[in-house]
Amino acid sequence: MSEQLTIALSKGRILDETLPLLAAAGIEPVDDLARTRKLVFETTAANVRLLIIRATDVPTYVQYGGADIGVAGKDVLMEHGGDGLYEPLDLHIARCKLMTAGVAGKPRPQGRVRVATKFTQLARQYYASEGQQADIIKLYGAMELAPLLGLADEIVDIVDTGNTLRANGLEPREIIAGISSRLVVNRAAMKMKHERIQPLIEQMGEAVRQRLAEA
Ligand code: ATP
Ligand code: PRP
Repeated sequence: MSEQLTIALSKGRILDETLPLLAAAGIEPVDDLARTRKLVFETTAANVRLLIIRATDVPTYVQYGGADIGVAGKDVLMEHGGDGLYEPLDLHIARCKLMTAGVAGKPRPQGRVRVATKFTQLARQYYASEGQQADIIKLYGAMELAPLLGLADEIVDIVDTGNTLRANGLEPREIIAGISSRLVVNRAAMKMKHERIQPLIEQMGEAVRQRLAEA
């Protein structure tokens, strides 16, 4: 019998876009994911199970071997630091940008800037690389509110269409990084379970290439 393979996914947009790529590798959840409170799911592939967890927890589960493989946004991976992880495949899904933004028409103040974000490490690195002194304020959501309420001068957040910024009177400023979701693999599992993981990377990679060619 082959050894157990555990794959960590997060709810929401990444899950929706990852399932067809996993299906191309012969892995489909047995249960309807939308209709259960379960967190661990058996799949149609022998000894392959899925964990459904918070997006920001995916790199941690994979780093410590709670899962062998995961799918996470590059934003989350960069913020985590990537210790203990291989990143063998760009899935080209959940594409967006990590950007700075501020109140439309209101320039960044002279001197220190107050920045609200959930990406505190990335924000600290970015402003330091710009030679800009910054006080970083950690928030867990609704970053767009912070400049409007005088909590911060700028935010660092995900931008796709820009609708969320516009709807809240903010303007996009600098692009910090282009973002997409990546397949990540625990370093030890990559060696110990190579014969199971390598074909999965190749089949998912082929599905990604096909999807891009059809787009
Ligand atoms: P958590 O539950 O841990 O707070 P989250 O709410 O940020 O996570 P999602 O909104 O599902 O989780 O986002 C997951 C990933 O999808 C992000 O890390 C990012 O890489 C990408 N993403 C986020 N917002 C968008 C967007 N508007 N368009 C495209 N991709 C996005
Ligand atoms: C994400 C992100 C931004 C928004 C950007 O939020 O946090 O707020 O998308 O997308 P846009 O530029 O197309 O408006 P999401 O929709 O995932 O909601 P969340 O607050 O639950 O993360």
